[in-house]
Parts: sequence; C-alpha cells; structure tokens
Amino acid sequence: MALLPLLSLLPLLASAQTPLTVVKYSSTPNGFTTPPRGFNSFGLQVNTGAQPNFSFNQSSILTQARALVANSPASLLADGDYYISLDSGWSVGCNGDQYGRIIDDTSKFDISDLAPELHSMGLKLGVYVVPGSFHDDGDKTIEGTSIAIRDTWDGHDNGLCRMDFDDAKDGVQQWHDSVVGLFADWGVDLIKFDYVTPGSPSPGSATLQPNTSGSVIAFHKAIEKVGRPIRLDISWKLERNDSFFDIWEANADSMRLDQDLNAQGGNKLVEWAVVQRAIENYRQFISTVIDDNHLPLTIHPDMDNAFIGNPESVTGVSDAERTTIATHWIAAGANLLSGSDFTNLDDLGKKLLTLPEAWVDVANFTAQYPMQPRNPGTGKNSPQQLQVWIAGPDGSGDAAVVLANYGPDQGQGNFNTSLEGTQNVTATWADLGLSGSYQVRNVWESVDLGTLDSQISAQLGEGESQLLRFQRAS
Ligand SMILES: *[C@@H]1O[C@H](CO)[C@@H](O)[C@H](O)[C@H]1NC(C)=O
Ligand SMILES: *[C@@H]1O[C@H](CO)[C@@H](O)[C@H](O)[C@H]1NC(C)=O
Ligand SMILES: *[C@@H]1O[C@H](CO)[C@@H](O)[C@H](O)[C@H]1NC(C)=O
Ligand SMILES: *[C@@H]1O[C@H](CO)[C@@H](O)[C@H](O)[C@H]1NC(C)=O
Ligand SMILES: *[C@@H]1O[C@H](CO)[C@@H](O)[C@H](O)[C@H]1NC(C)=O
Ligand SMILES: *[C@@H]1O[C@H](CO)[C@@H](O)[C@H](O)[C@H]1NC(C)=O
Ligand SMILES: *[C@@H]1O[C@H](CO)[C@@H](O)[C@H](O)[C@H]1NC(C)=O
Repeated sequence: MALLPLLSLLPLLASAQTPLTVVKYSSTPNGFTTPPRGFNSFGLQVNTGAQPNFSFNQSSILTQARALVANSPASLLADGDYYISLDSGWSVGCNGDQYGRIIDDTSKFDISDLAPELHSMGLKLGVYVVPGSFHDDGDKTIEGTSIAIRDTWDGHDNGLCRMDFDDAKDGVQQWHDSVVGLFADWGVDLIKFDYVTPGSPSPGSATLQPNTSGSVIAFHKAIEKVGRPIRLDISWKLERNDSFFDIWEANADSMRLDQDLNAQGGNKLVEWAVVQRAIENYRQFISTVIDDNHLPLTIHPDMDNAFIGNPESVTGVSDAERTTIATHWIAAGANLLSGSDFTNLDDLGKKLLTLPEAWVDVANFTAQYPMQPRNPGTGKNSPQQLQVWIAGPDGSGDAAVVLANYGPDQGQGNFNTSLEGTQNVTATWADLGLSGSYQVRNVWESVDLGTLDSQISAQLGEGESQLLRFQRAS
C-alpha cells in the first residue's frame, strides 16, 4: 500500500526534473524576423480536381492573389509579409537566356509583369529553382564574365535538364549572382530552392548529387550582394545533423522538414495521416534544435503548405483537423504559405487565415518563440498521441500553449497509439515548465478560461486541439 502514493507522485517528480529550455528565433541569414505568409501554388497544380478552374498560369495565379487580398484585412496585409509563391513549372525547357539564366515559360507567365502587379496589390512574388545549370547552355558565357558555363560543371547530369556544379570552380558563384540579379530585376522576393541535398531523394529517374549545399551558400551570397530583400526557402526533408544544419542555418531563411503534404493527383488537398507525419517531423526538428543547441535559432521550419482554407470536401480533413493544422503551423513559427484555393474559402477558412488574435498576437509571439513538445505527465519530448506544447515564456512570462489529441496513429505519426474518441488532455505547470498564475484564453474560440495556477485540461476529440494564450497574472 505504501508504494501507491509514491508511484502516483512519480510523474510530478519527473516533470520537475525536465527543465524547460526556451527556444527563441533571431534574425535569419537574409535578415527576416518573421516567417512568410500567403499562397503557394503546388497543391492546386497537382490536385486538379480540387479546383478544376485552376491552371498554372498568370491569370489563375492573379485570380488567387486577388481572392487572397479580398479575403484578408488590410492591416494584416500591411503588417504581415505576404507572398504568392510559384512552384515548379513557371520556367521552361533545358536552356535559359543568353547567359544561361532561368527564364519564364512565356506561354504561361510574364514574370516581369507579374511582379509589379503583385507588388501593387501589397503582395510579394516567389519563384522556384532546382540545383545545377541547364545542360543546353554549356557554350554560353556567364553574365559579366568570360567563363563558359560548361567550365563550372562537375560532369554529372542530374536528370532535371541540368548539370551539377563543381563548387571549387571559378564561375559557380558568378552564375548564382547572375540568376539572383535577374530575379531582382524582375522584382522577385522569395526563392524556393527544391531538391537540395542531403535530404531530398532523387525524383523519378533523376539522380541528385549527394551534397548540393554549396548552391545554398552561393544563393545566399548572391542575395547578400544584390541589395534586394529576398528570402531563401530550401526544400525538402533536409538532413538535420550538425554538419548540415549549420550550413542551412547560416544561409537559408526556412527549411523544409518533410516531403510533400499534398495528396498528389487527388480531388482533395491533404490526408490526415500525412499531417500526423508533418507534426512528427516538426517535433523531431525542434528537439534537435534543443539537443544540439542551435540557439538562438536562425532558420524557420517549412512544414509545407497549410491546407486550412477550404471546406472538408476540398481540403480532405475535418474542420477540427484544419484548425489543428492552423494551430501547429502558427505555433511553430513555421512558414505560413497556404496551398488552399482562395476563391473557395468557407467561414472557418477565413477565420483560420485571418483571425487577428491568431495572426497578430500569437503569430507575432511565435515568430520569436516556437513551440516545443512537453509530454503530459513527464514534460519530456517523445511522440505522443495526447501531446502538449509550449512556446516561450518570454521575458514577461507570457506563453502560448497547445493541447492536442492527434487521434489514432494512421501509420506515420510515430506515436503508435490508437486511443479512440474524446480524450482528457491535461498539462500541469510542471509538465509545461511553468509556475505561478496565468490568465488563459482559447484563441480560436475567443473565450477567456479565467486565471489558472496549476494545470489546464481539455476534452479533445480525434484530431482536435486548442491554441491557448497564457498571460502571466502573478
Ligand atoms: C469555375 O468557373 C465557373 C465560371 O466562372 C464557375 O461558375 C464555377 O463555380 C467555378 N468552379 C469552381 C469549383 O470554383
Ligand atoms: C506584429 O508584427 C508586425 C511585423 O513585425 C508588426 O508590424 C506589428 O506591429 C506587430 N503587431 C503586434 C500587435 O505586435
Ligand atoms: C490560363 O488558363 C486558363 C484556363 O485554361 C485560360 O482560360 C487562360 O487563358 C490562361 N491564361 C494565360 C495567361 O495563359
Ligand atoms: C558539402 O558541401 C559543402 C559546400 O561545398 C562543404 O562545405 C561540405 O564540407 C560538404 N560536406 C560533405 C560532407 O561533403
Ligand atoms: C550527416 O549526414 C550526412 C548525409 O546524410 C552523412 O553523410 C554524414 O555522415 C552525417 N554526419 C554525421 C556527423 O552524422
Ligand atoms: C513507433 O513505432 C516505430 C516503428 O516500430 C518505432 O521506430 C518508434 O520508436 C515507435 N515510437 C514510439 C513512441 O514508441
Ligand atoms: C482531466 O484530467 C485531469 C487530471 O487528472 C483532472 O483534474 C480533470 O478533472 C479531468 N477532467 C475531466 C473532465 O475528467
């Protein structure tokens, strides 16, 4: 009998023994202090059934941009940093311009017109690139030099119409400078650099060189020189060990943690099993940040497009799950580019994309303090179906807290449990690493939960979560 009280105390003791290391972002390599917001085209490009009217060209992109503006409060657009990010397919063929620089597919886009048009709407423009230079451009000369492009190559054709660079050769940096210079002339504001290695697996029959991090460094140097603020977003599933995390963190503004989330080829945009995987990838990422002491953190996670704007029939997950996606992407301080169809937002979608308390107060906070996992009962950081997260606390003791029930593991969540139905998710202050009293507010419900001084509980259905603001009361 004497053992029982002792055992029931164990979780509390364990919590007290799991100290909280607050994670803070600082300015990114290209000088940004918040993650980007807005739209990325890839979900609508590959899930053609989700919006049959969308075809990847300038008019469909402008239709999305106008709908984004029409559905967003002017103050959010003015204060936030909103991008229309074009994904794969805006450029053409196996050759560039006379200097071997990437050019638009003029049957679909005129980027030099698109950029000013988006800027006049208060939006910014993102474009997409992959490693190497075009294999048809070997005889061309790099802009401003007398170096033939083929003299920068390592002899390997990566299968993406491109030859890989030998980073040691003169001309590699100048080629990147010339491409970024062209982008800057057009008015490009974000570069999504895909298929970076180590991390990205080879697509289809292509074979990526094992280490293309040299081009991440070269793009960063080119951005520094060009004198226009440009974000560098690198993709995907990038290696997070010390040798490479340090390179990403010193050169890119955000890094993709996972493979694509969209349900390629479907009529719906995303599946819940994949969202469970994306959240697990973030848990691993932020745990690595703490364990390997990448603090303060100078790179934001890219958790891929947030599919939150459209009804379940289009998005593919329930309203509770859409809310959980919005909560986790915002609380992580992750890129907030949505893959949703902005011409078909429902009321919940508008709320999840614009609610000021989430997009001003919480998002501003988590752009400085990303959430980290704290297991209920122990404060540890392992994968769990019933999970609790804390962002902060900041210098005044304020924090953001997430309570979640991810529902049964659908195969990729890595927590491996299958608790069905509504669950009681409870976090004690010891679990969270907090002490004292807090005024607690449920953000999406806009409800004050009063002043609490020891624990918080929520009854959460499968896939459901709560986003809470904690304001220090004493
Ligand atoms: C596609 O466009 C037509 C014509 O504007 C419109 O009637 C229809 O509702 C659109 N479909 C979707 C799914 O938005
Ligand atoms: C949120 O951050 C933006 C961008 O830094 C800033 O303009 C805005 O004033 C901030 N809002 C609040 C409420 O702190
Ligand atoms: C874009 O695609 C739509 C639908 O196929 C078409 O109506 C429109 O003319 C195209 N616009 C451009 C600029 O190619
Ligand atoms: C990968 O490439 C970068 C840039 O060229 C280099 O600094 C680094 O040492 C390389 N790492 C490995 C493991 O080859
Ligand atoms: C880091 O990852 C790279 C690529 O996956 C691998 O080659 C290298 O051995 C790893 N380095 C360490 C220190 O684990
Ligand atoms: C879940 O199962 C996988 C595969 O068996 C295993 O690698 C992982 O450690 C398990 N996770 C937990 C939290 O038990
Ligand atoms: C949920 O669990 C907590 C901690 O055990 C408990 O204090 C609370 O009363 C429970 N709530 C419900 C509704 O069962």
